[in-house]
Amino acid sequence: MQPTPFALERYFAVHEFTARYLMCSSDPESMSIADLLALEPGSADAFNNTWLGYTEYPGAPELRRELSTLYESIGTDELIVHTGAQEAIFSFMNTMLKAGDHMIVHMPGYQSHYSVAQALGVNVSPWMARESDGWSLDPDELEKLLRPETKALLICAPHNPTGYLPDRERFDAIVDFARKHGLWLFSDEVYRGLEHDPAHRLPAACDVYEKAISLGALSKSHGLAGLRVGWVASRDRDVLAAMNTFKDYLTICNSAPSEFLAAIAVRNTDALIERNTAIVRSNLALLDPFFARHREILEWHRPLAGTVAFPQLKQGGAERFCAEVLERTGVLLLPGTLLDHGDTHVRIGLGRRNLPDVLTILDNYLREHYR
Ligand SMILES: Cc1ncc(COP(=O)(O)O)c(C=O)c1O
Repeated sequence: MQPTPFALERYFAVHEFTARYLMCSSDPESMSIADLLALEPGSADAFNNTWLGYTEYPGAPELRRELSTLYESIGTDELIVHTGAQEAIFSFMNTMLKAGDHMIVHMPGYQSHYSVAQALGVNVSPWMARESDGWSLDPDELEKLLRPETKALLICAPHNPTGYLPDRERFDAIVDFARKHGLWLFSDEVYRGLEHDPAHRLPAACDVYEKAISLGALSKSHGLAGLRVGWVASRDRDVLAAMNTFKDYLTICNSAPSEFLAAIAVRNTDALIERNTAIVRSNLALLDPFFARHREILEWHRPLAGTVAFPQLKQGGAERFCAEVLERTGVLLLPGTLLDHGDTHVRIGLGRRNLPDVLTILDNYLREHYR
């Protein structure tokens, strides 16, 4: 199996650690181990005493106990902890899909949602978000995409790269469709918790549908990408058994220090989410007037949740625009071509503390070059 290179990751491999300013990251502001340990006084000693042997295959019991509190109906044996959400996506595709199967995938999207399956010989139909309607999904389109060999429907909500979040009615319609046709609903929820208005939070798919697989991670809502902790939560026994078995050929078990720190993070979910949403909200307050000022160059649909937005470039190509901005200002943006979405859009990140400064640099650049 040889998946197409992950275009976004290859771009970050070149630029993430050399660009002066990042303005397209999807992970919010992170923190140090000391900052995290400070959330639980006394935990530093326990961390120092963490045993560095193998840990339990599906994840340390203590961590799975904490993770189960994020769901209504999920027990500790209905979770498998992985090395980032990425490993869990790879495992689901490899275990539950095979050549000739068909999957419907929310697009534009995160490349591993479709490239891994395609490399396995799975046929993928894009379910295109409607930009004109705030990047919304129309559940009425699903029946037209269905085939006899359709096995799974993949959604990402809150969505990367658009920041879209379906309302409860649409979400229920998606779940009803999956249930009616017996499909696995692979629900990427790694940005769940980062709703800009908490009233918009949706239930986890695994809590409302028995064949749903909810994907979680500490990389986004908690801002702890360096822990490399992700997980799946599901009540589907076949999925859990297959993914547990497959993990033996991936990382076997997780990193013991990361699992220790992850349990602290999950226990402090509310505080971490509040911290990260507060950063996003104050950045949005600056982005509103920025996009109003530059509406002839960039047009956005204000995101409803998460840490990214996907404005459309009204003049010229996105790749060239991003390359010029990087060269002249040191600000890294992400062209939509890397998300298989044509040369028309740019992804921006909303979750970093330095956004006010970086935005000023971009603002000055646009004023100078586009007037
Ligand atoms: C929608 C989505 N799913 C999964 C991932 C992978 O997350 P992790 O870093 O935990 O592997 C990302 C990372 O950008 C993402 O945006």
